[in-house]
Amino acid sequence: MRDGATTTGTTPDDDRPGGPSGLDGPEGRTRALHLRAGGTSVVLDLGAWPHPAVVHWGEDLTGPGAEQLEDLVLASLPQRVSGGLDVPAAPTLLPTPAGGWLGTPGIEGHRDGSSPSVRLDLVSVRADESTALLHLADAEAGLEVDLELRVGPSGLLHQRAVVRNVGATPYRLASVLLAFPLPWDATEVLDTTGRHLRERSPQRRALTLGTHLRESRRGRPGADATLLLAAGRPGFGFERGRVHGIHVAWSGNHRVLAERTPTGDAFLAGGDLLAAGEVVLAPGAELVTPEVIGSWGDGLDALAHRFHDAWRRRPHHPRRPRPITLNTWEAVYFDHTLARLTALADAAAEVGVERFVLDDGWFRGRRDDSAGLGDWFVDEGVWPDGLHPLVAHVTGLGLEFGLWVEPEMVNADSDVVRAHPDWVLRGRTALPPAARQQQVLDLTHPDAHAFVAGRLHALLDEYPIAYLKWDHNRDLLDAGGTDGTSGVRAHTLALYRLLDELRAAHPGLEVESCASGGARVDLGILDRTDRVWTSDTLDPLERLTIQRYTGLVVPPEMMGMHLTSPVVHSTGRTVDLDLSAAVALLGHAGIEWDLTRTDGPTRRRIAQWVAHAKRLRPLVATGRVVGTDGTEPGIDVRGMVAPDGASAVFVLTQTGTTASYPPGRVRLPGLDPVRRYRVRALDPTAAARHAGQSGLAWLERGVTLTGRELDAVGLRPPVQLPERATVLELVAEDA
Ligand code: DGJ
Repeated sequence: MRDGATTTGTTPDDDRPGGPSGLDGPEGRTRALHLRAGGTSVVLDLGAWPHPAVVHWGEDLTGPGAEQLEDLVLASLPQRVSGGLDVPAAPTLLPTPAGGWLGTPGIEGHRDGSSPSVRLDLVSVRADESTALLHLADAEAGLEVDLELRVGPSGLLHQRAVVRNVGATPYRLASVLLAFPLPWDATEVLDTTGRHLRERSPQRRALTLGTHLRESRRGRPGADATLLLAAGRPGFGFERGRVHGIHVAWSGNHRVLAERTPTGDAFLAGGDLLAAGEVVLAPGAELVTPEVIGSWGDGLDALAHRFHDAWRRRPHHPRRPRPITLNTWEAVYFDHTLARLTALADAAAEVGVERFVLDDGWFRGRRDDSAGLGDWFVDEGVWPDGLHPLVAHVTGLGLEFGLWVEPEMVNADSDVVRAHPDWVLRGRTALPPAARQQQVLDLTHPDAHAFVAGRLHALLDEYPIAYLKWDHNRDLLDAGGTDGTSGVRAHTLALYRLLDELRAAHPGLEVESCASGGARVDLGILDRTDRVWTSDTLDPLERLTIQRYTGLVVPPEMMGMHLTSPVVHSTGRTVDLDLSAAVALLGHAGIEWDLTRTDGPTRRRIAQWVAHAKRLRPLVATGRVVGTDGTEPGIDVRGMVAPDGASAVFVLTQTGTTASYPPGRVRLPGLDPVRRYRVRALDPTAAARHAGQSGLAWLERGVTLTGRELDAVGLRPPVQLPERATVLELVAEDA
């Protein structure tokens, strides 16, 4: 920790540091604290009352000496105005009314209805180049808070608080929201909503005075949750336009808000969402909040890149090539027979699949989705010899074996619920309303936890299972008691513990987070799993939006993307194989299709795609995501550029017809401006020619263009029928 920045001392009750204008830091020390890493600067005003405020979060303020940063702080101080406080309140990190703040408070709670007033004074600061640890206290309220702000090497700002009850009676904590200031010109908000089969639909609105609040009360983020709450300059796109966004790394209920106050402040804030009475801190007890992570950039791609880069730096990030996966769900649903599944595995091996995942339907009593959840024993009727014959067949073909589980769920029609009805999570005597005919297993119940952990360990010990597809198909409703031992928060922590224990006991095991598709996508679960099942829809046109907006936070190699059967089960649309494959290429690619019903030419085409996915996956797993703004409606352009700029892949998807015919040029941004790239279309997407069209000159002859030319001028996309795609591969001449 940096010595010079270490300050201690309490702020007397009504005595604001520096008097009414508050121009000095605590005990006369330097007032500005500069945290910096990965191209991001965060400047704290240590002299703000009653505890620090963030004056700047964003562009790296390289160069200025301490004095200039003092001026930066000075420049941010507001004037007193008529009708306001004698000393205007600062938008501090955990602002409260007792500190003069009249916007959404950073912390709320009470002691059995009394003492709701909180004012957290700064006690000490410890800091190094990129991290500040603030110790805040309110002796009267009996609370202490340790607040950590850390700028990571990718330029993300991480915040987390530890709230401690130092009073003599229990403290009911209602809310903790960690705030990230916005530039005043961030007047447009982007968030996402959604539903099953259509997660992360973007929506934009003006950030006017007031609060834009998004809450998740589903006990999991939910298909409608916003993965990112962003605000930026109006019209910000993927390539350009300064934008800031936050993500709550938490798999339970959460809140994010964007607020603009009549006092000239704007900010984003987030945290977990606590039910009434859910967290009661006993004397001496503490609560650790989820981490709230902020990113920013000139355009959403730059913002997203910080998340991807940070996630890829983790020691436990999945680094080996992402195995091409065949998932059995849409191929066979509940129709499990050894003959059918071994034939499917044979067909999968023939096209180059590397991982075979047996989905729902393998365990006791599970002939459809009405029964069996919770009875994690291989069904003896369907599998008299256990899964051994299938697993031996799959691994004999050289494929990894993966298994579907839904450990947090039970059907009422299951042996486990018949034997232990008290293991079902509920907030009252009656069961919560059923969903998909299932209920939630109370993971905070020690016996229930031990049972499900024991069954998972037993399966992992008995079979060479390389991968668990961990599903979660219903919301948590009325989820338990109010004593802090059950409820969504406790359940979420119990889930994390279960995952952590399993992975520690079975090194190398990979886990996918699935929740009816993408209803549990967050960096809390993604720190414990290796990919998310992005959506239950395999429709490539729907997937374009879902994948793009999930990719604002999730690195592409962690997003499951599967090739669909020709008639999409979720939308009924008939889709071209090449379109489906092209859209699945820029993620963790797989197949979900009964390949036993495909003919030879189709399988050869799928095999070609699998080969392309294997060749391109190192680029997908390390590259920088590029989305092109300003493309003509009807054409979607997106790509990935290798970190060294030596190669890239772009997908041009014809989502509909275009108004112009032939369409105008498309730009391929994000490349090294001075390097020259050979551009070629991947067979089999090399655009097919239709009646009345000539060939496309550059496609036929080949072109070599600089990154600058491709960005500034671009090239003519091929004329394509609607719902077709062309994949372009670019290789630098000097590579
Ligand atoms: C929902 C998942 O999203 C599907 O992929 C599949 O695993 C089913 N559950 C199985 O019940």
